[in-house]
Amino acid sequence: MDVNHIGRDISVLADYMEVPGIGFVPVNAFVLHAAEPVVIDTGLSLPGRGFMDALGSVLDPQDVEWIWITHPDRDHTGALRELLDAAPRAQVITTFLGMGIMSMADPLPMNRVYLLNPGQSLDVGDRRLTAFRPPLFDNPSTTGCCDDLTGACFSSDCFGAPMPSAELATCPDVGHVDKNELRGRQLLWATVDSPWVHTVDKTKYLETCSGLRAFDPSLILGTHLPPAAGRTPDFLDMLAAAPDTDPFLGPDQAALEHLLATFEPQTS
Ligand SMILES: [Fe+2]
Ligand SMILES: [Fe+2]
Repeated sequence: MDVNHIGRDISVLADYMEVPGIGFVPVNAFVLHAAEPVVIDTGLSLPGRGFMDALGSVLDPQDVEWIWITHPDRDHTGALRELLDAAPRAQVITTFLGMGIMSMADPLPMNRVYLLNPGQSLDVGDRRLTAFRPPLFDNPSTTGCCDDLTGACFSSDCFGAPMPSAELATCPDVGHVDKNELRGRQLLWATVDSPWVHTVDKTKYLETCSGLRAFDPSLILGTHLPPAAGRTPDFLDMLAAAPDTDPFLGPDQAALEHLLATFEPQTS
């Protein structure tokens, strides 16, 4: 896991997951060094990723006041329970639905939860964070957040893009990837992660981008994208094209067996 810094206010805990045939999917979590420190998402649910060590290199986990879980998919909740133990004052920001999903296997203590719906704001001491529903999402409880002090937008799964290498998946600036290539990769991700986008009423769908357009973030921080500064117009344009992109269809059993056969040792 790499740690990247964006100014004094934001640290990126940058991990990735390799998906055969798709690419290297960035899996970021973020630390917002607000007066009341906020951790946004908690990494992959795989052993040995080093999330707590990476977090401990940028702040004392005991000082964490808020843990914003953008949605309870397992690539966002990996170190949540460990962090709750290490951060005795921290409350988990989520929605009623998110709380329910996270409590299915092991109930979240109610006194450690703070429910925030899209459109509602939270004061974290030196700034306000406003929750919003990103235009693309794969989980009904998804909320991103906008920071009114830095102009950063934490967009959860929206704007993700599988990268061509592990190095690019964990790099500090999406500018290392060619703009046209990035757009193609974002559209692929949109069709994989939000397959419903091909069925929407386009006018109503585009209205869901209006909040983001109005906020006009200077920096977009997606869980599955390297940090993107000054890209909001390009990204909104990509969102508008997503409904017309070819739907994604994954490999079937025959393709899987063909792939596995290429792995079998040769016998003489
Ligand atoms: Fe997700
Ligand atoms: Fe995700």
